[in-house]
Amino acid sequence: MAIQTLLLALLAGSTSAVKLYISSYADEGATLGKIRTFDLALGLGGRVRPAASLKALSENQNCGSAPSWLEISGRTLYCIDEGFQTPNASLNTLTINGDGSLKSVAKVDTIQGPVANQFYNKKAAVALAHYGGSAISTFKTNENGSFTPLQQFVFNTPPGPRPEQEASHVHHTVIDPTSEFLVFPDLGADLVRVYKIDPATSLLTVQDPIKAAAASGPRHAVFWSPDKPAKKESTFLFVIHELSNNIVTYKVNYASGYGNSSLSFTKLQTIGLYGTTAQPNGTRAAEIVVSPDNKFIISSNRNATIFSVANPDPKNATKVPSDSLTTFQPLSNGTLKFVGLSPSGGSFPRFFSLNKLGNLVSVGNQNSGSVFIFRRDVETGKIGEAVATQTGLGQVTNIRWDE
Ligand SMILES: *[C@@H]1O[C@H](CO)[C@@H](O)[C@H](O)[C@H]1NC(C)=O
Ligand SMILES: *[C@@H]1O[C@H](CO)[C@@H](O)[C@H](O)[C@H]1NC(C)=O
Ligand SMILES: *[C@@H]1O[C@H](CO)[C@@H](O)[C@H](O)[C@H]1NC(C)=O
Ligand SMILES: *[C@@H]1O[C@H](CO)[C@@H](O)[C@H](O)[C@H]1NC(C)=O
Ligand SMILES: *[C@@H]1O[C@H](CO)[C@@H](O)[C@H](O)[C@H]1NC(C)=O
Ligand SMILES: *[C@@H]1O[C@H](CO)[C@@H](O)[C@H](O)[C@H]1NC(C)=O
Ligand SMILES: *[C@@H]1O[C@H](CO)[C@@H](O)[C@H](O)[C@H]1NC(C)=O
Repeated sequence: MAIQTLLLALLAGSTSAVKLYISSYADEGATLGKIRTFDLALGLGGRVRPAASLKALSENQNCGSAPSWLEISGRTLYCIDEGFQTPNASLNTLTINGDGSLKSVAKVDTIQGPVANQFYNKKAAVALAHYGGSAISTFKTNENGSFTPLQQFVFNTPPGPRPEQEASHVHHTVIDPTSEFLVFPDLGADLVRVYKIDPATSLLTVQDPIKAAAASGPRHAVFWSPDKPAKKESTFLFVIHELSNNIVTYKVNYASGYGNSSLSFTKLQTIGLYGTTAQPNGTRAAEIVVSPDNKFIISSNRNATIFSVANPDPKNATKVPSDSLTTFQPLSNGTLKFVGLSPSGGSFPRFFSLNKLGNLVSVGNQNSGSVFIFRRDVETGKIGEAVATQTGLGQVTNIRWDE
């Protein structure tokens, strides 16, 4: 009996060791943003108890005024500060302690306005996408967690058709499945910029970009292949556009010349984010993610409250207006099939992420200051009810699972 109890306690202990790191911009009037650590209580076998709960563990303020993007690698968390209140932005390295608290170990100044990063060349270097600074910058990674500046590309493109396109706004950086190339959607320039990685030096050389439709505003992208590992002959790129609110799918073509392999892209499909429902006025697409089992593509829609959900405050009977997530099924020929829409739990789901099993989705609603954790059916891709919520988080920008 005692042994059984001990075993249960051990199992419960091991399965409930799920932490979430949530970044938020500085509150109005404050000078520092936050990275908050939460513990998500899960039941045996990774099943979520009917009322799962988020417990606050710690708060860190070592990522400047505007933490915009997080990445976890081993026991290190990288945090980008968009630099709203300082002359320069920064890339910050923090150690994750056993209790979920964070300790700053290195910080490097960068060009203004970085909003995403991507490690490349076997983690020898990292690339940053600068929205505010209209640029791409790269850094060499040092063993002690610090970074040494490598390259900067600053874009002086003419203004585009939309007011949001007054300058280049590089919004994301993604590595291709062969790890030879990086792509950077540029919302301001209506381009997806493409760079080739030199494995000897980590230097990037420019390739021909993808020209997106005028006024479409490419924001984020994912590579996808029906094959695991991805095959060069069946690799696709899905780009989500913030201004035209659609996803464009491309076949990726790998060509190799004399020591100069290169990428080209064949456009396959443009698909809206609302299925057969009319696109609501004001909607602004944000994130795009591949499910862990590779069977679904999920995106988010801001500024269009087509749903309402139960108030995260159990004492408040008034429903909360909610923006949405869209689920697609990718077909082996690289086109997407609309599956359905589901609530995000609040306003402006700028970011969301799935746990390793893919049966939970955490959504950050930037304008509601909330995070909603929804159950997700891995077979059908359907996103179900909320199992845990947290409010009072300020402008949430990013959420990472630490399992
Ligand atoms: C700091 O910002 C200035 C002005 O944008 C820029 O010229 C400089 O390169 C930045 N410094 C670093 C280390 O990125
Ligand atoms: C970390 O390593 C880099 C490169 O070797 C070096 O320049 C820097 O001084 C080191 N930082 C610390 C805090 O040891
Ligand atoms: C390699 O090919 C790409 C795409 O055709 C081209 O843009 C680039 O200039 C070439 N680089 C070299 C070094 O030949
Ligand atoms: C969207 O805006 C247009 C133009 O302002 C208006 O005619 C239309 O009724 C609006 N549609 C909805 C669903 O609100
Ligand atoms: C949100 O949508 C409304 C129309 O419903 C529009 O007037 C407003 O500009 C939109 N906001 C953003 C940030 O796009
Ligand atoms: C209840 O929730 C609604 C919707 O979020 C909000 O507008 C209202 O202020 C809340 N009421 C109380 C008493 O907190
Ligand atoms: C992809 O496959 C689907 C389902 O078989 C088909 O309906 C669609 O026309 C195909 N599209 C392309 C571009 O081949």
